[in-house]
Amino acid sequence: MKEEVKINITEKESQRQLRFIEHLRDYYTEKSEELQRPLTCHIATFGCQMNARDSEKILGTLEQIGFKEVDTEEADFVIYNTCTVRENANLKVYGRLGHLSQLKKKNPHMLIALCGCMMQEDAVVDKIKKSYRFVDIIFGTHNIFKLAELIQARLDSKDMIIDIWKDATEIVEDLPSERKYKFKAGVNIMFGCNNFCTYCIVPYVRGRERSRNPEDIIKEIKDLVADGVVEIMLLGQNVNSYGKNLEEPMTFAGLLREIEKIDGLERVRFMTSHPKDLSDDLIDAMKDSKKICTHLHLPVQSGSSRILKIMNRHYTKEQYLNLVDRIKNAIPNISLTTDIIVGFPGETEEDFLETLDVIRKVRYESAFTFVYSKRTGTPAANMEEQVDDEVVKDRFNRLLKEVKIISSELTGRETGTVQKVLVEGINEQDSELVTGRLSNNLLVHFKGSTELIGRIVNVKLVECKGFYYIGEMVEAQ
Ligand code: 5AD
Ligand code: SF4
Repeated sequence: MKEEVKINITEKESQRQLRFIEHLRDYYTEKSEELQRPLTCHIATFGCQMNARDSEKILGTLEQIGFKEVDTEEADFVIYNTCTVRENANLKVYGRLGHLSQLKKKNPHMLIALCGCMMQEDAVVDKIKKSYRFVDIIFGTHNIFKLAELIQARLDSKDMIIDIWKDATEIVEDLPSERKYKFKAGVNIMFGCNNFCTYCIVPYVRGRERSRNPEDIIKEIKDLVADGVVEIMLLGQNVNSYGKNLEEPMTFAGLLREIEKIDGLERVRFMTSHPKDLSDDLIDAMKDSKKICTHLHLPVQSGSSRILKIMNRHYTKEQYLNLVDRIKNAIPNISLTTDIIVGFPGETEEDFLETLDVIRKVRYESAFTFVYSKRTGTPAANMEEQVDDEVVKDRFNRLLKEVKIISSELTGRETGTVQKVLVEGINEQDSELVTGRLSNNLLVHFKGSTELIGRIVNVKLVECKGFYYIGEMVEAQ
């Protein structure tokens, strides 16, 4: 059931939700005593960093209710936070749901919930209502904060609970959230997207752009730093248009300058930057900053001005290359990454060669390469000249080859230098090694132990192994 949002969410909303959480905690404490075991939850997250951040909020609520997170889907509460940006993300969800229904037959206490971008599509919800009757709760991207209330509603009724909002007008602050890492965190600065690139479903499922107030963002970051966080990733579909719709408008560069002043914060990253809105002021803010990392993700999508126009990207190949020049001139050691789509409707061999040309000219450290996926409801889905599968496959392979050649040429360029590295964890293959991240986002493995996790240390990059370095710690900072 889709409905327009008429409710104005007040600051009291988080208080209201906390009451549902408390009520559920009493209910589940009793259940756990009855069953003589802890109640468990499992969250499967599909898609982007926004979803990863939303999952932390979901886990925060579930843990406050009393669920203990487990690694397996044999849990009392299983939730899929879905993605719909490309069709194969949807197919994965349907595939795994079949398996969940078997698990539910074995555990009568099990609740299954679905949320995220896929649920914002009418056709998906219809299909689940019809063919996946064992699902208990469905909600969307705009009302994650209502999770406790929806669980309560499910316990009070025996029916599937469906609550999808078409859009949201306000942002609910101060809800519980459980962070995955102690030393780094994602911070939403805005939600939604107004760009309507013609291939993309995001504006339809994440709604219009809404920026958080700078005071709320700064307070969240200060609290995180007080809690041991040294690196933050500012999240938004298009961070460069941050602040345009605030009562007192503010630019993204302005926000970054405020964040720069936070004592104890060491590193700032952000994602994603739309090239059309990347200002000279932002380049200056990056250049002047001691905290903003030397990595910029700048999705190009296509190198052909003709295709870019049909994609509704609002820049030409030349404008993009000129922007890259300005960035590289200001910040010579910047590491650039990108997103590229091949096989957009009407893409010719000539258009594709323009994309290869951009890759050679920009020289990306790495690139996420996607085969165009037709998303129902987007303008591109109705464009006639869909490209033949074989042609797309061939272009995709040629693209990948080019990206690999360039990134392997680039990654070794800092061999021999000493760099600051944030240690993220013990190496998965060799427990004598730790794995850390350079400012430019590349990984380094070097000898070390658990007490280094979360610290920034100086590491000499001894050898480049393609996409990562082997290093040696020089001294702790
Ligand atoms: N098909 C293929 N790739 C897509 N992306 C978004 N929509 C589609 C689609 N329909 C890619 C874009 C975007 C990234 C997050 O996903 O490259 O930058
Ligand atoms: Fe999709 Fe374009 Fe918005 Fe990115 S900027 S989320 S590609 S519509």
